[in-house]
Amino acid sequence: MNTNPNATKKPKVLVTGANGQLGKELRQLEKSWPQFDFLFLSREDLPIHHFELVRQFFAAEHPDYLINCAAYTAVDKAEGEKELAYQINAEAVGVLAAICRERHCRFIHISTDYVFDGTGQRPYTEEDACSPQSVYGASKYHGEQLARQFDPDCIIIRTSWVYSSFGKNFVKTILRLLAEKPALSVVNDQQGSPTYAADLAEAILLIISSATWKPGIYHYSNTGNITWHTFALAIAQLQHSSVPINGISTDQYPTAARRPAYSVLDNTKVAAAFGVPIKDWKESLARCLSFCTFSA
Ligand SMILES: NC(=O)c1ccc[n+]([C@@H]2O[C@H](COP(=O)([O-])OP(=O)(O)OC[C@H]3O[C@@H](n4cnc5c(N)ncnc54)[C@H](OP(=O)(O)O)[C@@H]3O)[C@@H](O)[C@H]2O)c1
Repeated sequence: MNTNPNATKKPKVLVTGANGQLGKELRQLEKSWPQFDFLFLSREDLPIHHFELVRQFFAAEHPDYLINCAAYTAVDKAEGEKELAYQINAEAVGVLAAICRERHCRFIHISTDYVFDGTGQRPYTEEDACSPQSVYGASKYHGEQLARQFDPDCIIIRTSWVYSSFGKNFVKTILRLLAEKPALSVVNDQQGSPTYAADLAEAILLIISSATWKPGIYHYSNTGNITWHTFALAIAQLQHSSVPINGISTDQYPTAARRPAYSVLDNTKVAAAFGVPIKDWKESLARCLSFCTFSA
């Protein structure tokens, strides 16, 4: 007798943190991926740090895949809320991994370039040593370790500089400031690669629909090795804004959390393993701006 309740159904994909940037971009793709049954859960629907609720939910729904987009993402605030950041980004991730393992649900977890210390001089590979410099980065790194400990079959995707037409992010902040200020100052000594959350969402769905499940850590971002200043200039250019944008150093823009000076990710592994396209950062930015509902 087949005891799998999903045996004749489409694979069920559970998305936690569904009201965040990545969660909302996944929701946008729902109709283009009819082979899956999606279940989108906001923080209110399923707070991942309420372990008993999560257990009950899995027992009732029997998901085949979990895409964990839920996270404590307030990088500076985390310096003063270490316990909460660890509870959501680490402890809860370990519990999700254990439940997925127990219930034969494939687990995709999202992590960050902030696991690196930023002293590198070439794109970081998945094998490079981690040494997070902030509470947020450390909590996410601990989450990676717990995910792998409790579900060695999981896939962890590290991404960087995520933006979207949804939620709060650098692109939308610059759009607003271009409309409000006579001139802007943006940090020009941190290098990284932006990631349009819509591209990341598509990459995740390509990964889960690929013929072979290949557990492990993968890096995914758009192409590009740019500074926040270059990024801001590109936003202004695409918006036809003439507001001047000055480059400043990190020292001139102090923040509670330390950011890596260099966090470009090497995307070779994910492209080779799953045929995921790595899209050009500027083309993706232009696509995102076409969906932003306000202009500078
Ligand atoms: N944003 C970036 O630049 C960046 C860079 C690298 C990696 N990442 C990683 O990428 C992933 C997706 O990030 P994102 O940009 O989409 O983040 P986001 O927009 O901040 O979304 C995170 C979502 O998680 C929800 N959440 C927070 N605590 C929760 C809890 N205890 N239970 C359930 N849901 C909870 C939030 O709920 P509310 O809506 O109620 O707040 C929010 O909707 C995260 O793992 C993040 O660490 C992000």
